[in-house]
Amino acid sequence: MKYIIAPSILAADFGNLQRDIEMINQSEADWFHVDVMDGVFVPNISFGFPVMAAVKKHATKSLDVHLMIVDPDKFIPEFAKAGADRITVHYEACTHLHRTIQLIKASGCKAGVALNPHTPVTLLQDVIEDLDLVLIMSVNPGFGGQAFIHNTYKKIQDLKRLIQGVNEDLIIQVDGGVSLLNITKLVSAGANAFVAGSAIFATDNPSQTIIEMKNLVT
Ligand code: DX5
Ligand code: ZN
Repeated sequence: MKYIIAPSILAADFGNLQRDIEMINQSEADWFHVDVMDGVFVPNISFGFPVMAAVKKHATKSLDVHLMIVDPDKFIPEFAKAGADRITVHYEACTHLHRTIQLIKASGCKAGVALNPHTPVTLLQDVIEDLDLVLIMSVNPGFGGQAFIHNTYKKIQDLKRLIQGVNEDLIIQVDGGVSLLNITKLVSAGANAFVAGSAIFATDNPSQTIIEMKNLVT
């Protein structure tokens, strides 16, 4: 089983973005996690295409784009063109989720769906076979540096059961409050991809922290 560490560039120093991207390039990390927020779906605005283009220009690892936006269909082809390898949309933001998933795939990307802390995994039952990844939010989306929500462990186990015999290659990703303190327990619950922002960038030696995370999961 391959475990994925995806540092969230939301926690990077935007004044030194190229430096932080190079740090991730040189590190043990697997993906870049790119958090796009629109100020409508979530109570915060992060960044859009110009920053995405800057990341793409320097990044040597794949871009895992987490869209916290309403009406994502409007922008999916453009994010694909801007260099996204994976696009994850929110269940709560998609009226026609099946259509949105097909659009992500038709745009040439792997497709993911994110669930807010209050959204049960069973709501994905009828699209689970179409998905490459499910992102379980372990905080309410919108901000880095929030406290991890404990119910996440149970949700990972629920998702593990849901994919059994149906889509066992599905990636179970966790995002929000992930750190060296809870990553081992998240692995035991069944997660295999980990987004971390502040737990990496707020340390004195981010690339060393990534090594420590990687060591805990492999
Ligand atoms: C939150 C974002 C996360 C965020 C995680 O809405 O989706 O990816 O950057 O930050 P930490 O790891 O600091 O909770
Ligand atoms: Zn995210």
